[in-house]
Order: sequence, then structure tokens, then C-alpha cells
Amino acid sequence: MLETEICNIKMKNPTMLAAGVLGSTAASLNWAARNGAGAVVTKSFGLQPNKGYPNPTTVEVTGGFINAIGLSNPGVDSFKGEIEKLERSVPTVASIYGATPTEFSNVAAQVDDMVDMIELNVSCPHASGGCGASIGQDPVLTAEVVKAVKKTVESHVSVKLTPNVTDIVEIALNSQKAGCDALTLINSLGPGMRIDLETARPILHNKFGGLSGPAIKPIALRCVYDVFETVNVPIIGVGGIRDYKDVVEFLFAGASCVQIGTAIYYEGLDVFKNINNGLLKYMTRKGYHKTAEMVGEAH
Ligand SMILES: Cc1cc2nc3c(=O)[nH]c(=O)nc-3n(C[C@H](O)[C@H](O)[C@H](O)COP(=O)(O)O)c2cc1C
Repeated sequence: MLETEICNIKMKNPTMLAAGVLGSTAASLNWAARNGAGAVVTKSFGLQPNKGYPNPTTVEVTGGFINAIGLSNPGVDSFKGEIEKLERSVPTVASIYGATPTEFSNVAAQVDDMVDMIELNVSCPHASGGCGASIGQDPVLTAEVVKAVKKTVESHVSVKLTPNVTDIVEIALNSQKAGCDALTLINSLGPGMRIDLETARPILHNKFGGLSGPAIKPIALRCVYDVFETVNVPIIGVGGIRDYKDVVEFLFAGASCVQIGTAIYYEGLDVFKNINNGLLKYMTRKGYHKTAEMVGEAH
């Protein structure tokens, strides 16, 4: 009953581990898969190793966390070693980033035959060097990245968009026209900040970071709802999901499946089993036989 399909990729349930949360090693990705995630997304990686920002990189706020990790990763060469070690009990999504269309397609080509889907991170709100949201806030540049990757790979390609734009539907439409197979909505919100009362200094080393967690759920839902009205490619919903009720809302708004990140800090990896058990009971009570029957019901 929970079996879900996105771009012909079969998942045993509609939940995925979101990029950047526990996804840096094969061990942590395997651990999420063993604990009930229907698919796993890696931490975003690029062409070269990247140290990211110094600590502190994460701070708790009401309703979630602000993080400015700065896309720290060991680079595609080393990350391929982790992907090779995956148990492959569930589909794998590689989250990749770059500063230019060529950089994106170069990284994508190196993992194309190792994963089920490639997710383009054009949406990190605290990336430097022309990466992340500085691409995803530009509809033309976003389309160029999508075209370059689609020309290069055979894997399905999802574009992960930032909510920090005037009109997310315009960027989604441009991504669709450029040939993406799916959209992942949304990356963290902001940037936002916190200030230390004793030192009067910003708490994060980078000063600003992306807001994630329950506080951003209404915005993520609205983005999914709006984009579903206009685009035809399937949507992967992400932002503030903590329990099965949140998942139901995302499906009703138009997501075909969902990703879970920050909730793992609150609930541990049991969050996947708890969501799937709750969803199954809800579907039985409401007479749904497949998650696909729920997609877009709120429209
Ligand atoms: C610590 C942390 C690291 C993250 N790293 C990435 C990343 O590498 N790539 C990416 O696309 N999103 C990254 N994200 C964003 C999440 O994948 C997700 O889009 C966002 O946190 C909203 O979902 P959530 O509220 O369930 O966490 C990160 C989020 C957090 C909290």
C-alpha cells in the first residue's frame, strides 16, 4: 500500500532521507535505509573537496535549526567510494552541486551509472563561490544547468529549488522546459541568523544560515501546491516534515513522495518507521489503496 513510484523508480514507501542529513558516508546512508527510508539522498558533493565553514555551523531556533555548513564534502572522487559501499536495499539519489553548468555535468557524469537519480542542488542558501541559491535564483542559469546535466546523463534528474525567490513557479517551469524529470521542493529557507547574548556576536561562524524544520513546513507546502498547479513533472516535497500528518499534507498539495531531514535530530531514525506506520493506518481508515491516489487531492 505504501509503495510509491517516482520517475519509474520504485520505492517501498514515500519517504526519502533528505540531502545533507546523515548522508555523508555509506554507513549513515545504509543506516537510514535499514531504518525504513524508502530512498536515500547523499550529502551534496562537488568536483573538488570542500572544507565548508568553521564551527559553529548549526544552531537551534524556535521551530527548527539554522545551518551554515557550507557544502563541506570530500569531492566526487572520494564520494564515489562511499556510493560503491552502499547496500542498495533502496534507491539512491546523488545530490550534486557546482558553480557552472559544466561543473554540474562533469560531476553528474562521474556518478551517472552508480545511482538511480541525480538531484541538482541549485538552492543552498549559504553556499559561496557562485554555487547554490545564486544559481537557483536565476531562471536562465538554472535552465542552463539542467540542460547541461540532461545532455550528459541517463539517470533521472531532479532539480532542488530554493523558496527564496519572488516566484518559485517561474523557476520550476524553466527547469521543466530545460528537461528535468522531477523537482525537489524546497531547500532550507533564509538565510537567517541568531546572535549570542553574552558576546553580542552572531552565533554561526558564517553569521547566516538556512532555516529548516517544522517552522518552514507551511512555506514548503505552499511551494509544492503552487508548482503542482502549473508543472507536470513529479514533485518531491521537503521541509519540516515530522510525522505522517505532514506527509499526508504534502501528498495532498501535490508531492509524489517526500524527504525528511531535520526531524531526525528530534526523533532519530525511528521517524521513518513512525511515519510509515501512521500513514498506513491513515490510508486504511480513509480507504486509499496507493499513495498515488492522494497526490494533488487538495486541488
Ligand atoms: C544540517 C543540514 C545540512 C543540509 N545539507 C544539504 C545539502 O548538502 N544539500 C541540499 O540540497 N540540502 C541540504 N540541506 C537541506 C535539506 O535537505 C532540506 O531541504 C531542508 O533541511 C528542509 O527539510 P527539513 O525541514 O526536513 O530539514 C541540509 C539541511 C540541514 C539541516
